[in-house]
Amino acid sequence: MAKRVVLAYSGGLDTSVIVRWLADKGYEVITYTADVGQGEELSEIPEKAKASGAVEAIVEDVREEFARDYCLPTLRALALYEGKYPLSASLSRPLISKKLVEIAGKEGADYVAHGSTGKGNDQVRFEVSVWALNPDIEVLAPVREWEFRAREEQVEYAKRHGIPVKVTKEKPYSIDRNLWGVSIECGPLEDPWAEPPDDAFQITVAPERAPDEPEYVEIGFGKGVPVSLNGEKFSELHRLIEKLNEIGGKHGAGRIDMVENRLVGIKSREIYEAPGATILYEAYRELLSLVTDRFTHHRFMEFVPHTYAKLAYEGLWFSPLRNALDALTEKIGELVTGEVRIKLYKGSVTVVGRNSPNSLYVEDLATYSEKDVFDHTAGKHFTEVWGLPLKIYGRIRGRE
Ligand code: ARG
Repeated sequence: MAKRVVLAYSGGLDTSVIVRWLADKGYEVITYTADVGQGEELSEIPEKAKASGAVEAIVEDVREEFARDYCLPTLRALALYEGKYPLSASLSRPLISKKLVEIAGKEGADYVAHGSTGKGNDQVRFEVSVWALNPDIEVLAPVREWEFRAREEQVEYAKRHGIPVKVTKEKPYSIDRNLWGVSIECGPLEDPWAEPPDDAFQITVAPERAPDEPEYVEIGFGKGVPVSLNGEKFSELHRLIEKLNEIGGKHGAGRIDMVENRLVGIKSREIYEAPGATILYEAYRELLSLVTDRFTHHRFMEFVPHTYAKLAYEGLWFSPLRNALDALTEKIGELVTGEVRIKLYKGSVTVVGRNSPNSLYVEDLATYSEKDVFDHTAGKHFTEVWGLPLKIYGRIRGRE
């Protein structure tokens, strides 16, 4: 029986060449393409996959699953890699890996394959995710071992084998896009001193060309889940994110420019656009801080965002720790109900109002007006006890 492989297929040149290359090596290739909100027309994918040599081509809309099971838990953890990157590309890999493993099981394939290179993070995410779900599957990564050095060699190979290649002028960028954001690297971005050229950006306008009038958005949350936008209910989370990307993108919101530490030890310059995610992070962070006591809030923020971001970035999505953290953020998320009003203006995303039935803000305690009920004499004793460690230090050491 022929060896069968399920390939994560984007429809681009690399993965199309991989189909043929694997077929030449004697594999029966089944392609899998997920719609994770990359904003591309996928209806021609099956035809293209088959023209490249696939025996079967599967295309699936997984936007809601991606939003619910990958973006939402990451939002609830307020996870940002190195404090900046909302992990868009990192999140789609475990989902795609899960699908590859499921299809391999159904189709009796012992192999899965991906088109990632040997110097990126995605190879790690694909492979570790696949093994966590089925350690007996073998993962093939043709780009790491094939003979093609330059793109021209791939184009030549593709033409020789009748693989349809688009003869558009090649963009200098490598772009990965989904619902949660766009990542852009390569070309002029490889100089970390150079400002990103305007044509690098895919879904946001330059802040200086954004409307001169601010726009307000009101996001409603129910038990840790974004459920409405400007009063309109959204039962599908991916639709709400798409809408926020559109509104935020118009105002130049959510652009991120960073040099990040890749898993393989390299630093790389990357541009991200994540208008929807950025707005949701601002809103969620604000509500979470309104409804949690200080102890919970501080410990949460010290521990969860950083730990979660590293798990997602470093390919450890299907780890017991990530599962356990999801239980934690879901539990605390039960308090996160209410609305946040956000002002979008020339690239900035500013919280200007918040409101929750679970709010711990007590105006009678906070106020400086005559309504004040706080016992000021308590402040004297509190300050004495609070300051005692440094008072003692000052007494013993301060005289030296
Ligand atoms: N550096 C990001 C990550 O590892 C994005 C990589 C996605 N690829 C791209 N072509 N920009 O998550």
